[in-house]
Parts: sequence; C-alpha cells; structure tokens
Amino acid sequence: MAYFLSKLVVLGGLAGFAASQASVTVDVGTKYQQIDGFGFSQAFGRAKEFQDAPASTQKKALDYLFNTTTGAGFSIIRNRVGSGGRGDSILPNSPGSPSGKPSYTWDEDDRGQFWFTKQAASYGVKTIIADAWSAPGFMKTSGSESRPGYLCGTTGHSCSSGDWRQAYADFLIQYVKYYNQAGFNVTHLGFLNEPDFAPSYSQMQISSNAQEAISFIPTLSKTAAAAGVDVVLTCCDAMGWQMQSTYTTALVKAGSTQYLGVITGHSYSSDARTHLSQTDLPKWNTEGGPGDGNGNAFVSTWYGRGANEEGFTWANKIAVAMVNAQLSAYLFWEGFEIRQTQSGSHLVDATDGTNPKPSGIFWAFAMWSRHIRPGARRVAATGSPNGVITGAFLNTDGSVVVVFTNTGTGTQSVKTSFAGVSSAGSAEAWLTNQGNTFASTAAKMDGAAATVSIPGRSVVTLKMTGA
Ligand SMILES: *[C@@H]1O[C@H](CO)[C@@H](O)[C@H](O)[C@H]1NC(C)=O
Ligand SMILES: *[C@@H]1O[C@H](CO)[C@@H](O)[C@H](O)[C@H]1NC(C)=O
Repeated sequence: MAYFLSKLVVLGGLAGFAASQASVTVDVGTKYQQIDGFGFSQAFGRAKEFQDAPASTQKKALDYLFNTTTGAGFSIIRNRVGSGGRGDSILPNSPGSPSGKPSYTWDEDDRGQFWFTKQAASYGVKTIIADAWSAPGFMKTSGSESRPGYLCGTTGHSCSSGDWRQAYADFLIQYVKYYNQAGFNVTHLGFLNEPDFAPSYSQMQISSNAQEAISFIPTLSKTAAAAGVDVVLTCCDAMGWQMQSTYTTALVKAGSTQYLGVITGHSYSSDARTHLSQTDLPKWNTEGGPGDGNGNAFVSTWYGRGANEEGFTWANKIAVAMVNAQLSAYLFWEGFEIRQTQSGSHLVDATDGTNPKPSGIFWAFAMWSRHIRPGARRVAATGSPNGVITGAFLNTDGSVVVVFTNTGTGTQSVKTSFAGVSSAGSAEAWLTNQGNTFASTAAKMDGAAATVSIPGRSVVTLKMTGA
C-alpha cells in the first residue's frame, strides 16, 4: 500500500494526473486576523455542578477541557453576570433611584463561577469574558430581569424611575472589580446576550438599529476608565451573525466602535460564514450549540447523518468561521455537565455520574484549540484541494499549524510547502474522523514540505516546528 501510494505521488508530480494529490503553499509572511482563542461557559449553575463533582471527576473533566497535551486546551471562559433571577446578582435590591447608593454584595462564589475561574487560571487561561444577560429588573422598562424590556434611559425608553444607564455601568464594573481584586482579571465585558430574542429567563432587548446599545456604550466606557479598570468592551451577542451584521453596521455608523474591542455574535439563527468587513475590530463567536435538546442529544458521533449534534457538523462550522468569516475566537455554549445526555449543548459529560466523556463536537474544537494558541495569526494558505477548507496559523513560538477539513467523501493527499522556509523542521499530524480522535497520522517530509493524507469527512491538523 505504501509503495503504491508513493508511486502515485511521483506520477502525479510528473504528469499532474492523480486527482487525489493536491498542493498547498503556506506563506507566514502574509498575515490575517489574530487568534484570541477558543472556549465555552459554565453559566446557569453548571460551574456549581462542576465544583460539587467528585475530585477525580473534576480533574478528568478539567484535563479534557483545558490541558494542552491531552485535552482541547481551551483558552477562554465566559462567565455570566447574574441579574437577580436566581439570587445571583451583586445588587439584589434597588437603591430606590438611579442616584441612590447601591448596596453590592459579593459571596466569592458566583454560583461556582469563581471556583471555575480559579481552575481555568491554573491551566493558564488568561482570557475571561464576563457577560450580562440582563440588567437587574429594576433598571428595565419591564421592571423584571426575565421579562422582555429595555434599559431605562437608553434612546426611546424613558422610565418614571429615571435613567439607569450610569447605574448599570457601575454595576458591571463592580462585578469586574470583584474578580480583578482576587487576581483573576476579567479581560472582556459584554452587557447584552441575545438582545434579539425574548425568552422567559434573564434577557434584555435592543432594537435592530442598536439605538439602546449606542446610547449606553459611551457611559460604560467612561465608567471603566474612571475606575481604572482595563477591560475590553464587547457587543452584542446576537442570536446569529446576520443580526449581528445589522447591529455592527449601526454601531459603526454611530461611532460606537471606537469604545469597543470585539464584535460578538452567536451561531444559533445563522452561522458566521462571511467576514463582517464594516469594522476591523476582532470578531468572536461567543456562543453556539446544536439546539435545545430536541433530538440534539449528547453523542460521541463524528459523522452519522450530518446532524447538528455530530462532530463533523461543527468541524465545518468552525473551519468556515475561522477561515471565511475570519473570526478571532470561537466559543461553544457549555463545557462540562453531569448526566445531561438528552442535550448536546456541552462538550464533556460524566454520563455515568463520575467518568467524563467528550462529545464528537469536543474533538472538532480540539483539532483547532490544542495547537492554535492565543496570539497566533492566521496566515495565507493558497492552493485549493478539492472540498478541503484549509486554515493556516503562525503561533507566537514560531510553530505553524495547518488545519485541513475535508468536506468531501474521498481521501485527499495534500503536500504543504512553506514559503520562505528552506530547511525542514519537524512535522507532526493528527486525524479525527469517525473512528479516530486526535490520532497520530503520517506527515511525510520532502525537503521543507509535508504531505498528509486526509480521509473524507475528516479533520487533519498538521504542525511544523523548528523550521
Ligand atoms: C496535562 O496533562 C499532562 C499529561 O497527563 C500532565 O503531565 C500535565 O500536568 C497536565 N497539565 C495540567 C496543567 O494539569
Ligand atoms: C491583572 O491585571 C493587573 C493590572 O493590570 C496586572 O498587574 C496583573 O499581572 C494581572 N494578573 C493576571 C493574573 O493576569
């Protein structure tokens, strides 16, 4: 078999006839977006569930999620700023009026998120995004954190109780300070979650012209600066990228992007498929999942029928998002849960109560997140193997990682050359498909070029070091 394949490679090279042989050239001198990382959340009590698990269960789950040798090496966590519905707000009671003195309370627990943040930090996670689903109810037009409403005082929404914009900004910055004071710096802050969706749990609305966000963002920015809190502001976590594109156009037009550091969207109602070129700000997919549990069970399947909960479906989504939409980060919804296999909205489950097991989707993320590290830059990869999405990345340590996602059904052999690299480094490659999870696979060196074989419906990650 090996003899036959090498013959085919030679013939293909001479006559250009072997359809399965393709070439890619990676040029590390042509740089695109910076990669901030990959991640997930343990919001809505899942951090507490994690904290309460047996120590050996915790350790195994943490290693799956954060370990860069054996796990996915996730590098971003997304914590939820509670708005009071579950006794989870740092400001449970109204100070009476916007100018009243707020009485903050901090339990150093945050429903397990404080413990979870400590664990993530112990694995080297440095990027923490805090996101509020809603302002406390007394600051909203609906008077409730879980009933659809707007922040009082924003454009178009005056309330008899007054203008609560400054109070909401103070509340958010106070939350950030509690973490920072404990040594776990919150690096990013969002003040909305799915503002185009009106569920019966914590949420807050904005209009499609984003007028409420536009009238709040400068206050939040000024408040952070005045408090000496160095945090990147994000907006707006729309349900899908189509709506986030609409919001982004409005934010750019109003000049709000000067206060923001990241554009954020979710991948529920539409995926990140094309670049939002309205602004140069980095774009993050801050949440996504296969659905609501309706037939989207937690499964280890990579490819069965192309369903939402299968790994290969997500391998495609991530590849399109990172390469075509030029995202800087991709976060799934939740990380670890216990016996919640009816829903595939998390990456690792202790299905028997004690032994964590990863889903197929987990491996789709790991093929990107283990080796493409925060601070990496996406670089040019030219040549187009038929049906293979190719993403190439230069890490800050000089290693180059190329992720091949073969969307077709046939095996492709791809020879990758590295422009400007004359001596061979050492290459390693790994394969995930139905039957293999992060399995070592051959990377055949030929000078400074490496050839890998990419089976249909698989992902192969190639890493070159020391070139
Ligand atoms: C990651 O896993 C490796 C191999 O089991 C282990 O040596 C290392 O200590 C782990 N890293 C952390 C931060 O726990
Ligand atoms: C947190 O931020 C402070 C102030 O910028 C900095 O001195 C400190 O090193 C940071 N801590 C971590 C763990 O990054």
